[in-house]
Amino acid sequence: MSFPWANHYEPKNPLMKWVDSRLPLPRLVYNAVGAGYPVPRNLNYFWNFGVLSGAALMIQIVTGIVLAMHYAANGLVAFDSVEHIMRDVNSGWMLRYAHANGASFFFIVVYLHIFRGLYYGSYKAPREMVWLLGLVIFLLMMATAFMGYVLPWGQMSFWGAKVITGLFGAIPVVGTPIQTWLLGGFAPDNAALNRFFSLHYLLPFVIAGVIILHIWALHIPGSSNPTGIDVKGPQDTVPFHPYYTAKDGFGLGVFLILYCAVLFFAPNALGHPDNYIPANPLSTPAHIVPEWYFWPFYAILRAFTVDFILPAKLWGVLAMFGAILLLFFLPWLDKSPVRSGNYRPAFKKFFWLLVIDVLVLGWCGGAPAEEPYVMISQLAAAYYFAHFLIILPIVSRMERPLPLPNSITEAVLEKHGNAAA
Ligand code: HEM
Repeated sequence: MSFPWANHYEPKNPLMKWVDSRLPLPRLVYNAVGAGYPVPRNLNYFWNFGVLSGAALMIQIVTGIVLAMHYAANGLVAFDSVEHIMRDVNSGWMLRYAHANGASFFFIVVYLHIFRGLYYGSYKAPREMVWLLGLVIFLLMMATAFMGYVLPWGQMSFWGAKVITGLFGAIPVVGTPIQTWLLGGFAPDNAALNRFFSLHYLLPFVIAGVIILHIWALHIPGSSNPTGIDVKGPQDTVPFHPYYTAKDGFGLGVFLILYCAVLFFAPNALGHPDNYIPANPLSTPAHIVPEWYFWPFYAILRAFTVDFILPAKLWGVLAMFGAILLLFFLPWLDKSPVRSGNYRPAFKKFFWLLVIDVLVLGWCGGAPAEEPYVMISQLAAAYYFAHFLIILPIVSRMERPLPLPNSITEAVLEKHGNAAA
């Protein structure tokens, strides 16, 4: 971080002086999330979701480690070990619900974090690396959540694992060997359960490592802000501590209230009841659906129903992965020099259409694979790709942005009728 007006770290007592001169960790923290990190003074509450995502990861790691002390990754007893946690382990029900709902809340805050980035153009130069690392985190989160859902070894765990690993079988020639290799057998069984458990425990720590890179990359240019214009001087920033530690602390309080409301009053609202039935390879559930946070991608997967050059299933798999891979190219697809959607009238309208489109995809993904859902998901999937590949590049060339304020301070003072002046 190279703002020349940033506060400099001065150890407050001899102990900190001693530590800092041998291992400058206090200095690192001070410059990363303390008073030594200048942040635009106009960040709104949408800038809370990065810290909330980090808090959600911490909740998952802590509850997960304790759950693992009681869980048994063996096909014969996995389901019963989860019931044992729910009934016999002290506060085990709370731990398990905290972890299961924690995953949902993790995705809620990360989706809001991603859409914040999409609206305010946070993916644009010079923050492309922050965006790309964010997408790597998102992919790792999806893999972790998928493998975690398999562990209770209920009906949806088993059949979800079968459907998703079965997707690899759609790849020509090498598909079936890859599928067998992933599962350690020809169908989900003990080998699959063990390796999923091992990876489910490992990946959150890999995510934590990538988050450090994500924050590091962010601290090179510093945070963007709702106007999207660059910081021009010390008048545009405030130190992260105490201003944003207080604002993030407030956001964390609201987050925890909502999370606890679901955890204590509706702990099964976001889950599927079939996962309380032990896995049975001989009985296929009527509708196999993943957890809600995968529904938009599941709808894209199922939108392909006709073989055309390639089998429909392979098209579905390519489109599903393509829907995420596409986002890696976003910084170069949207060439507009203006970052924030606040100053881009046409972009703003299409942004909201994209939000509706993703909600429609999610609704179709959670519904049975029948009409009218299939047709609606086909239209919505086509629009999703059109948004990024056609609409955004055209809009970014043709649109006439609104005049930008001269500085962040000017924008803040204008908004508050120059009262602060
Ligand atoms: C565990 C997941 C994640 C954590 C803990 C995390 C953490 C953070 C934090 C603390 C910030 C600074 C505060 C803020 O702007 O909200 C940030 C900024 C950012 N993150 Fe993430 N992030 C995560 C996932 C993602 C994902 C999935 C993406 C995008 C695909 C992403 C893209 C960005 C971008 C572009 C910024 C810069 C925003 C700006 O300055 O305008 N992050 N992240």
